[in-house]
Amino acid sequence: MLHDPNRVYVFDTTLRDGEQVPGCQLTTPEKIEIAKELELLGVDIIEAGFPVSSPGDFNSVVEISKAVKEPTVCALTRANKGDIDAAIESLKYAKRPRIHTGIGSSDMHIKHKFNSTREEILERAVEAVKYAKRAVEDIEFYAEDAGRADVEFLAKMVEAVIAAGATVVNIPDTNGYCLPDQYGSKIKFLKENVKNIDKAIISVHCHNDLGLATANSIAGLQNGARQIEGTINGIGERAGNTSIEEVVMILKTHQVLGLHTNINAKNFFELSRMISTQMRMPVQPNKAIVGSNAFAHSSGIHQDGFLKNRENYEIIRPEDVGFPSASIVLTARSGRHALKFHLERLGINLNKEELAEVYNNFLTLADAKLDINDDDLLSLVAHKLVKN
Ligand code: KIV
Ligand code: ZN
Repeated sequence: MLHDPNRVYVFDTTLRDGEQVPGCQLTTPEKIEIAKELELLGVDIIEAGFPVSSPGDFNSVVEISKAVKEPTVCALTRANKGDIDAAIESLKYAKRPRIHTGIGSSDMHIKHKFNSTREEILERAVEAVKYAKRAVEDIEFYAEDAGRADVEFLAKMVEAVIAAGATVVNIPDTNGYCLPDQYGSKIKFLKENVKNIDKAIISVHCHNDLGLATANSIAGLQNGARQIEGTINGIGERAGNTSIEEVVMILKTHQVLGLHTNINAKNFFELSRMISTQMRMPVQPNKAIVGSNAFAHSSGIHQDGFLKNRENYEIIRPEDVGFPSASIVLTARSGRHALKFHLERLGINLNKEELAEVYNNFLTLADAKLDINDDDLLSLVAHKLVKN
């Protein structure tokens, strides 16, 4: 089968990088439930866990491998035999197993985490890939802290692990350090300078410490990466990982990029809420795509424009991501147009003068009471209803 050069593979790490968040731990049955939903969402790869880390995590990888059919199931390891053996064992029921192994690539990590040298680290990286490859065909290698790594050394490492059998090379911005053009340039450099780079897929794995995870992931894709790693709701270590829903909707919205995924975006909202509940991690109201305010229009200027033509203030249709509907929120910043819209929704039609009078009373109420609901509206017009 010919490989589609514009297809972006989606690698979900909600159950691994996402689950590392304190307080977000899940039981195996909860993880299975989420994995099945991720399968329905259409993700290509589910990173099911870090098997050597605990018997519970090992068991989750085993059970998820049994529970899903379509996605590749991936297990994380460090670059050592014990981790890799555990991962191989945990993946024995997976229809499409992948091992995700790797080691630090920045001088910071090489010196201050591994107390090692570039040469030694390179050897360990290659050994790990070769060791994993004996048992599993699909090997993803991560060059941890690649965002801060020397690009020439990174290129050497990537070339060596591809020669050793890596099928995917993950270039993580582990600390969310890079600017989008720096990260994009790094991917471009690898694409242009690594021998046999086309034998592997370049993957982007960005963290959100500076709020740039999504922008960096897109920069990576624009420069030749074809796998994006992230989580639902952007949960993950510290400030989180790239939000899958954001990247997918950016690619859909900006078709000029020419890139596409296999994701059923209509499933986003429900899955976002399910993960938020199970992981006890609320979604911030202004979170792009899935926040409760993502499709709520509250100022008079926006409401008026939206009611004239929703596309004035809506670049994504809420229904396209499974969001119940757009909303016009009534506040003291709302205009007459929004008030009229809500009254008509309740079956109340007022003439211009009546509306002006009710609007003045509405503003007084809205200044005093932040949340105006249907009962408030009915009280505001009650005397008119009685008269009519
Ligand atoms: O952020 C990171 O570098 C990681 C690796 C383990 C892929 O999560
Ligand atoms: Zn990570």
